[in-house]
Amino acid sequence: LPIQENVPLAPMTTLGIGGAARYFLPARDEQEVAAGVHWAGEQGLPLFVLGGGSNIVVADEGFPGLVLRMELRGLNLVEEPDGIIALEAAAGEDWDQAVELAVSRNLAGIECLSGIPGTVGGTPVQNVGAYGQEVSETLVWVRALDRRSGCVVTLSNADCRFSYRQSIFNTAQPERYVVLAVTYRLRRNGEPALGYADLQKELAGTPTPSLAQVRDAVRRIRERKAMLLVPGDPDGHSAGSFFKNPVVSRAHFERIQGTAPGPVPHYPAGRDETQVKLAAAWLIENAGFRKGCTRGRVGISSKHTLALVNRGGASARELLALAREIQDGVNQKFGIELRPEPIFVGFSGV
Ligand code: EPU
Repeated sequence: LPIQENVPLAPMTTLGIGGAARYFLPARDEQEVAAGVHWAGEQGLPLFVLGGGSNIVVADEGFPGLVLRMELRGLNLVEEPDGIIALEAAAGEDWDQAVELAVSRNLAGIECLSGIPGTVGGTPVQNVGAYGQEVSETLVWVRALDRRSGCVVTLSNADCRFSYRQSIFNTAQPERYVVLAVTYRLRRNGEPALGYADLQKELAGTPTPSLAQVRDAVRRIRERKAMLLVPGDPDGHSAGSFFKNPVVSRAHFERIQGTAPGPVPHYPAGRDETQVKLAAAWLIENAGFRKGCTRGRVGISSKHTLALVNRGGASARELLALAREIQDGVNQKFGIELRPEPIFVGFSGV
């Protein structure tokens, strides 16, 4: 196996923070994935599967085990009955290229998920969502290596137990599966999803937008918020949203609304009427943290309050100190503990 040693991880992440992988293996086919997983098991080493590095924070000490970089390739469209097309995508494919392929063939279902950095394999893990769509709405199968049995298994949508930013892959069974490929069910010539207010505003002059126009609109919005990776943007070194949007009781929301200077942004939280989802970015701003504020080499993006950014040469320690300061501020003001959204790699006890 072409295993490398002491490979710096920071350049493989969008944040650009953190130490090295003790061992590192780029895996280009399923045999290499299986062999790498087996090797780590034999050595008694922890394993981390790296995709696009767009949603992770790596510890300054690095990762003491094997980092397996998922490099499986393949994007296939398979015709099914009734205008349904299955998009079968290997875990190492760039997610936005998968979306681009779907949109270019006029296949609906993932157009609002345009411009999200990262790989296909990461999408089921955190149930990637944006602008009113989540991958759980179109995902049909996940092909995965089950580390417990050593076998390749196929998980259905129900098996993945999706909810907002959650699945079995990051809750009930966090270490168990290595995602190899994902199948999404798309609709030929389907209507785009236009549920999100920001998106409706952006498309106000376009009464019946095509999938391609929705994709462009989403990318424009993301670019304005520095949530699209643009080389040279000083706000680009982030892990996207650093915190999840918290779900609170309606009573808690009403208490906050009662003392707020204006309307408090809130959204339905699934089917349960007694719960509401609040905008973490609003809570952070209204706890006194400004866009563009800086603490040494880290800060808050000047374009979106929910993105914490590396302003150059930052450490994970500095980043986590700022995150803690924000969590404490929001907790004191609103009685809500914000939960981080990225995956932490190489930290003990986080
Ligand atoms: N807001 C602010 N300040 C800001 C930005 C937003 O107060 O700087 C408030 C506004 O009231 C705004 C509301 O927050 O209306 C929502 O903002 P936005 O539409 O930008 O979405 P978000 O809730 O901050 C979520 C996802 C993003 C996703 C967008 C668009 C989470 C944690 N984040 O952000 O996903 O792109 O919606 O759908 O759910 C990610 O997970 O990494 C991510 C980027």
